[in-house]
This record gives sequence, structure tokens and C-alpha cells, in this order.
Amino acid sequence: MARKLMIAGNWKMNKTANEGKALVEELKNAVADICPCKVDIIVCPPFTTLTSVLEAAKGSNIKVGAQNIHWAESGAFTGEISGAMLKELGVEYVIIGHSERRQYFGETDETVNKRLKAALANDLKPIVCIGEMLEERESGKTNDVLATQLAGGLADISAADMEKIVIAYEPVWAIGTGKTATPEVAEETHKYIRSFLTDKYGKEVADKIVIQYGGSMNDGNAEALVSQADIDGGLIGGASLVAAKFTALINNALKGSAC
Ligand code: PGA
Repeated sequence: MARKLMIAGNWKMNKTANEGKALVEELKNAVADICPCKVDIIVCPPFTTLTSVLEAAKGSNIKVGAQNIHWAESGAFTGEISGAMLKELGVEYVIIGHSERRQYFGETDETVNKRLKAALANDLKPIVCIGEMLEERESGKTNDVLATQLAGGLADISAADMEKIVIAYEPVWAIGTGKTATPEVAEETHKYIRSFLTDKYGKEVADKIVIQYGGSMNDGNAEALVSQADIDGGLIGGASLVAAKFTALINNALKGSAC
């Protein structure tokens, strides 16, 4: 089944409001001729850069996402941002459970699940990140780790809600390291993720879910990765911070996309 390509830039803690605006101004001209029917192009800046990026992206084919969301509607959660705050700004997507959140900020499958429910309740499209550490892959535990993350992260999520969720498979050992999983290794894991979703939600739902690859994806490897049957796009860190590189990546991914 042909799923629409989805390429999302995760800017992490990069770009001030002015820098983000400048990047989107450049990017929107560079991708202006790409039909939105073929690919969803998303940028996920830091919270403080959302407003200027949303303004710059208006009327273009660039969509905007946040990098995190708190599960409560409001309250005493210093430093956190609620779904209503993001929705009111005009944000459409939200990254949940990135491995850096899991590694450095105590994110667990339980908090991923709570944030996911908050995103759905606020009509934001969640990009849920999962992925194994190097030692887990080397000891043959990859699928078990992913199954645990998926079971916990997606607890109590209905099939109707599952259809609104994007999964980003990001092997932790490939993030920011320049080490990409080979297309074949990534595909094998994506296939496993889709089989997990098939068991839980049935084939019809699982076939609709966009599963992105993330981890040192760039303009050189995007086509080969996206050519794989179960790889439907990418979540891009470093290569999303320069308009020309991100545009080249999108164009090369389009060559590999079945859609
Ligand atoms: P990278 O990051 O492309 O810089 O490896 C990907 C990510 O962490 O989402």
C-alpha cells in the first residue's frame, strides 16, 4: 500500500526565533514547487521559535510541529507547555518520546502514553519516537525493546486514534552519529513495527500508519531508505538545519517514494 511520504525536521535546541524565520523563508522558496500531494513537509522548532516559524510558513507547503507536550491541561508544571498552548498557536504536529527526552529528561513509556493522549485530546498529530540502544541491538533485543516501547506508549489507544499517529523509528546509535542503519536493517525493523501494529490493530489500520526512519538521514541515503516498502519518510535532525540540505533530502526521498 502506498503511503504518503512524510519528512519532518527536528531542530532540537537550535535556531532562535529570528534564525528559524530565516530558515523557513529560505526553505519555503526552495520547496515551493513540490506538490503537497506527494509529501508532508514538517519543521519542528523549539517552543520559542514556533511563532515566527508559523508566521513565515503561512501559505506555504510547510507544516509546523512542536518537540514536546505536557499531559496536563494547565497547572503547576514549571517549564512545561500544554496542548492548548500549542493548538492556539496553530501547531499541527508534536514529537513525543524522542530518545533525547528518554535519555536526559526521564521520559518513560508511561509519560509517552500520557503525552500522546494529551496530543490526541488537543487534535495535534503525534509523532511517537521509539528506538533501541546499541547494546540492545548487539544483544539481539531490538524487537523486544520496541515491543515494550510500543505496548507502553500506545496503551489504551483505540484503532481510530492509532490512524492519527505517526511512528518514528530512531535507533539511538544512529542519532547524530553519522551511522545510519542500512536500508535493509532499517526495513527489517520497520516491518517488525508494522507487524506489531497489525497484531494490535489489524492490517487495515497498520497499513495506513506512516513509519518514519530517523538517525543520520541525509540527502545521500534518503532515497535508498525511503525505497524500502515499510519506510515512509524520515525524522531528520542535523540535515534539517540547512535549507539546501533539507531540500535536497526531500527531493531525493521523493525519488525513492512509491507514492
Ligand atoms: P539526526 O537526528 O538526523 O541528527 O541523527 C535525528 C533525530 O534525532 O530525530
